[in-house]
Amino acid sequence: MSNERVYNFSAGPSMLPLSVLQRAGAEITNYGGSGMSVMEMSHRSKAFQAIFDDTQEKFRRLMGVPEGYKVLFLQTGASGQFAMIPMNLMSLTGKADYAITGNFSQIAAKEATKYGQVNIAADTSDCNHTRIPTQSELKLDADASYFYYCANNTIFGTEWQYVPETGKVPLVCDMSSDIMSRPVDVSKYGIIYAGAQKNMAPAGLTVVIIREDLAGHELPYTPIMMNYKTMIDKDSMYNTPPCWCIYMLGLMMDWVEEQGGVAGIETAKKAKAAMLYDTLDNSKLFTCPALPGSRSDMNVAFRTGNTELDAKFVSEATAAGFVNLKGHRLVGGMRASIYNAVPTEGVEKLCDFIRAFDKNN
Ligand SMILES: Cc1ncc(COP(=O)(O)O)c(C=O)c1O
Repeated sequence: MSNERVYNFSAGPSMLPLSVLQRAGAEITNYGGSGMSVMEMSHRSKAFQAIFDDTQEKFRRLMGVPEGYKVLFLQTGASGQFAMIPMNLMSLTGKADYAITGNFSQIAAKEATKYGQVNIAADTSDCNHTRIPTQSELKLDADASYFYYCANNTIFGTEWQYVPETGKVPLVCDMSSDIMSRPVDVSKYGIIYAGAQKNMAPAGLTVVIIREDLAGHELPYTPIMMNYKTMIDKDSMYNTPPCWCIYMLGLMMDWVEEQGGVAGIETAKKAKAAMLYDTLDNSKLFTCPALPGSRSDMNVAFRTGNTELDAKFVSEATAAGFVNLKGHRLVGGMRASIYNAVPTEGVEKLCDFIRAFDKNN
């Protein structure tokens, strides 16, 4: 094991900014003169309540969360929301629309069938999820309790480039792998949620932004812990929240602020993604399965078409300090996850490596 930090292209949990890790390290045994670590604090203490309130305020400001919406800090991962959403919302009309554009929306749709009628509004499995459906392709039910989609498909490397129009039907969106990478008009949504472990914090925290009127419609058997109303009423502290992750989210929000907010992050992100796609498009060896117009700025999937050559690429890249580039088994090939904390310099160096590999092979 080396003492050098590597360029980490992991799909999640993912790279965090060095300055954030160093700040957490400096405060790890004695937070703000309290004589203890945030990990050792009571969640009911004044010191922790201050961290919680500060993190809430920063997150709301940076995401532009309007009045009438609550921000919840929950557990059970993004996958917990696959059940929590239908348990809480399905009772509105007994049915919901799901757009299946990848693995996680597929699992979410399947989970929802336990709680009501699921209408598949779109399904891109016929092309192995290489593209995002257009608005006119969506089979919308005006009487659906909600319309569900996943903004960025982490495994397949595709991303919605538009916000679906669903009339009065509330939009519910999994933004686990692209939250805070582009400005979002929160007022268009009923629920936005994200597992924190890609763009926001260590694993163990799920952030939910919910329009308040959507809570309080839970099915009768909904566990207390999975009831949005409980968590709204108790300000995410019905039980012990993921304290350390909430603190880390607060540090990350300071970092996002330093980058010029979400708009600043978006500018850097677009440049990083364009640089990588250009390099791949101009190579002889590599192709990207995701179709132009649907490509993700966060997860760039690519391949040579030859499994041995792919393996050689991954192994040589690892030796050169570019790690976690192996693609997901559902897609094969390679995947570079270039989340917010992956520095531009890391993507530039990866592009140099790709060009050299292209030339030599
Ligand atoms: C888009 C998306 N949704 C949901 C999940 C599942 O997240 P978790 O492991 O927090 O349940 C992931 C995990 O990678 C993801 O990328």
